[in-house]
Amino acid sequence: MTDLPHVSLAALEAGLVNRDTENKRKPNVLLLYGSLRGGSRSRMLTLEAARLLRAMGAATEVFDPSDLPHANPEFAGDPRVRELRELCNWSDAQVWCSPELHGSITGIMKSQLDWLPLELGSQRPTAGRTLAVMQLCGGDQSYNAVNQLRLLGRWMHMIVIPSQLCVPRCDKQFDAEGRMLLSRYYDRLVDVLEELVKFTLLLRDQRSHLADRYSDRIRRHD
Ligand SMILES: Cc1cc2nc3c(=O)[nH]c(=O)nc-3n(C[C@H](O)[C@H](O)[C@H](O)COP(=O)(O)O)c2cc1C
Repeated sequence: MTDLPHVSLAALEAGLVNRDTENKRKPNVLLLYGSLRGGSRSRMLTLEAARLLRAMGAATEVFDPSDLPHANPEFAGDPRVRELRELCNWSDAQVWCSPELHGSITGIMKSQLDWLPLELGSQRPTAGRTLAVMQLCGGDQSYNAVNQLRLLGRWMHMIVIPSQLCVPRCDKQFDAEGRMLLSRYYDRLVDVLEELVKFTLLLRDQRSHLADRYSDRIRRHD
């Protein structure tokens, strides 16, 4: 099975692939998805996004949420929790992809985010990192999950890019090998990821400047 994104050859030949990452340190992108199910469509979409990001010159890590304990400070030393937090620190940017269940993001998705504290010692693990949000629907297109992810990203002081993706009728959008079929949703996925890479390259070196706040400075001064 090829690991190349569908766009690679045709788009490369036509000069349609964005080259912003050339001659720059690769942007590190952490991708999270919100399902444990075998055959999960949100996992498929996340892996497709990772392929595209690598083709755009990014380094990617996809976190597997199985075996992650529920958020509980007593388990903060768990190896899977440490792995998730280290990946968060490594990332310049993140992609969060949740299916919509009962009009909401999944508990699995939220549990991962609840392990990423706003403050950890003197650090703000998520502040200033760029974020793209995506969701899948079993039915018609709706925006409940992306709206919630966007709100969570803002709450965690991340820079949520304007573009987002919602894939409706998600059981019809992937082939038997788990590859996303070409469609306007696939094109939209490329748009979202290109935008994420652009924002990340523009902002990642400004992260500590953007996260520097008057209220924190006076608190440290007291
Ligand atoms: C309990 C339950 C509730 C669901 N609620 C919604 C919903 O509110 N809106 C929707 O579009 N799809 C809904 N679905 C469909 C799922 O989004 C769809 O099956 C999706 O593929 C599940 O994600 P996964 O493939 O990554 O496991 C629901 C599915 C289940 C099992």
